[in-house]
Amino acid sequence: MDNLRDPLSVTLVTESRLTSTDFNDLGFGNHFSDHMFSMEFENGAWRNPSIIPYGPIAMEPGTGALHYSQSVFEGLKAFRGSDDQIRVFRPDMNARRMARSCERLCIPVIDPALFIEAVRAIVRTDQDWIPGKRGQALYVRPIVFGVEPHLEVRPASRYRFLIMTSPVRTYYGDEITPVALHVQQHYTRASPGGVGEAKTGGNYAASLLPGERARDQGFNQALWLDGIEHKYVEEVGQMNIFFRFGDTVVTPALRGTILPGVTRDSVITLLRDQGFAVEERRLAVDEVLEGSRSGTLREVFGAGTAAVIAPVGRICLGGTTYEINNNEPGELTGALYNKITSIQYGETNDPHGWNMLVPAGKAAAAAE
Ligand code: COI
Repeated sequence: MDNLRDPLSVTLVTESRLTSTDFNDLGFGNHFSDHMFSMEFENGAWRNPSIIPYGPIAMEPGTGALHYSQSVFEGLKAFRGSDDQIRVFRPDMNARRMARSCERLCIPVIDPALFIEAVRAIVRTDQDWIPGKRGQALYVRPIVFGVEPHLEVRPASRYRFLIMTSPVRTYYGDEITPVALHVQQHYTRASPGGVGEAKTGGNYAASLLPGERARDQGFNQALWLDGIEHKYVEEVGQMNIFFRFGDTVVTPALRGTILPGVTRDSVITLLRDQGFAVEERRLAVDEVLEGSRSGTLREVFGAGTAAVIAPVGRICLGGTTYEINNNEPGELTGALYNKITSIQYGETNDPHGWNMLVPAGKAAAAAE
């Protein structure tokens, strides 16, 4: 690995768990592949890059990240095409976003080139875990956290960077079925100046209670509004969100409180390629509901790495539920899903060069 001071060491499992994993019943993040990438930060540098068996890690109860959440993560996917070629979708975007998340949480930044090499190494090592079926993928989950045991509220002096992988189906199931959203009017996810745009676990922890309340009422997710006026749409639990009014697509602008999604960026690019007007701006929830009443709101969909493109069929505010496109996936939503997944599985050309090809060849080759 050219971007590391130390060479990559590789310790492979003696017995793979691959054959005991049911690829017909994957769910999301229920199975982990045989290995993980590991690296440690100590005395001012990232060291000991290694591929090791996936398994428990020793941590002291005083580990700072457990108490004060000094931890950030990423999510990206590797796909196996019908040509058997392995493609990782836009790892450069995740690498840069992780660097920005690290900066926000006072974690030593992992150089994006090194992040990408580490992803390539673990995907190559566990390539047999990449499912072959359309709709499935190998989800790649990098995480970095402070490991120094201390109880002062300050940045840790030591960190661990791990990349685990998990064969998955799409987040809301294999089919493109509409999800139902509950507009959250009380709780908020993030406020200006906070950590909303960082991919840090605390944002997800804060979403659990409203998410559970939404699910108790029969909805898949909470739809977040802004933290000051409770008026403007922000994002959904695990996705960014898009609204099609006529032939204009509107999505909340990146103002520091929402996650700058890789799929969000890809959708905007593909829409503009096709001549659609895309507005990144503040969007009041009232404008959405008015569009639903008047019929100008034609489609709503979420976009995220885990969820890919998920049509939204119902939005509930207070006691009123608004149906979008008769609770059917919209035409543009379906076209975007097909376009993005065709690029990811290598079934169409990749006009923006988004795929990183990973050479086939067995595990030890990852050490090259
Ligand atoms: C992703 O789409 O990769 C996410 O991070 C969502 C995840 C929390 C399930």
